[in-house]
Amino acid sequence: MTPTLRTAELIRALVQPSSNPEQSARQFPDTHNTETTSLTFNGSAALYRAAQHLQLSTTDTVLLPAYGCGAEIGPFEYAGCRLSFYDNADGLNVDVEQISQILESDESVKALLVTHHFGLAQAKVTALKQLCEKTGTLLIEDCAHALYCEHENTMLGSIGHLAIFSPRKTLPLTEGGIFVVNNTTGDVTIPSQVTAQESVKPERLALLQRLCYSIQQGYRSRDNSLGYALIRGSGIALWAIPSTFIKLIKRAGLTKKAHWLTADAEGSEAIPIYRTRMSSLMHSVYRTTNKSNVIERRRHNFYQLLSSVQTQKSDTIATPVISELPEGFLPLYFPIFTPNPAELVAYLEGVDIEAFNWWQHLHPTVNWTDFPVARRLKQSIVALPVHQQLTSRQIERIASALTAYETETHQLNV
Ligand SMILES: Cc1ncc(COP(=O)(O)O)c(C=O)c1O
Repeated sequence: MTPTLRTAELIRALVQPSSNPEQSARQFPDTHNTETTSLTFNGSAALYRAAQHLQLSTTDTVLLPAYGCGAEIGPFEYAGCRLSFYDNADGLNVDVEQISQILESDESVKALLVTHHFGLAQAKVTALKQLCEKTGTLLIEDCAHALYCEHENTMLGSIGHLAIFSPRKTLPLTEGGIFVVNNTTGDVTIPSQVTAQESVKPERLALLQRLCYSIQQGYRSRDNSLGYALIRGSGIALWAIPSTFIKLIKRAGLTKKAHWLTADAEGSEAIPIYRTRMSSLMHSVYRTTNKSNVIERRRHNFYQLLSSVQTQKSDTIATPVISELPEGFLPLYFPIFTPNPAELVAYLEGVDIEAFNWWQHLHPTVNWTDFPVARRLKQSIVALPVHQQLTSRQIERIASALTAYETETHQLNV
């Protein structure tokens, strides 16, 4: 579902010099600039860094999207500020009118979080920035899905006063988040440099275990058609050796439990992660990634799936949420509206295709009756994989599985 670390990428990351400014500058965010960026364990930890940077007090409010994965809530709750929510207008775009009314009427709102879903820019992000400038609110762009994405020739993550990224979602990283402070103009003032905060390095053994797991998953998910069975079997077996050894150490309780948390940890369990950094190895994988290759492959896969879905007869079982491929859009997944997300995910799992019942969890902090659009979205979207490591054959298989599901569903309904 997400890219996995390949041995070649690992070797490239290991042999590259640890701080090469030119190489970093090719990436956005440019993490070489430690005055404006800070490396974190995941996107949630980057959100916590944003809350720290703003020095939010218990009487300050952060305005969050009701349509979110839920991981956005924990860092701000932990920071101790108040939370308030807004709805989407229709589909993935936020309700600017509703946000405007809240910002104009509630002086306690210090920051507004806006998400670029699946890598697609919020259509009115520039207007939102202007609204924030007018009301003295800070705009935080949530670019957890939007690495390497642009809006009107501007990189996403460079528009808001602050931004966060979760590069581990787009690239084969076992962990990794980035917090960004942008140069601000206008009346809104924040510290213009990332303030030094205490952070800890990830535990090496736990990192090695995540690494073994990622590489093994890579062998498991590879397109099998080319007679890879032997390579696949040996690869998995080889990486099982260090992995088993580490599991024994873990079981013996020789290191702290918190060290073994993965970047997927959520809720109160994730708190130790908020102060953990991205490892230098994963930073190196980030820096040495071939950005254009990632962009080209993901856009190609998205387009291929879009073309197949659009040529299918029925548009009731799988309707693309994003029905075009605009310039600057780098898709995180291929989201579709479908009447029964859980059923479709189970069907795909049955044919060995991993898909997500996207954000179906209704976080208890949100009063869902107030946010009908967000609630409806949460009950109707499935995310299909289109990442850079998938081959055209694999995308074709996903498209065929969707067609087969449609046919079966129609037959059942006749
Ligand atoms: C929109 C959004 N923001 C932030 C996060 C947090 O990122 P991470 O999972 O890396 O902690 C997520 C996680 O899924 C997300 O979807």
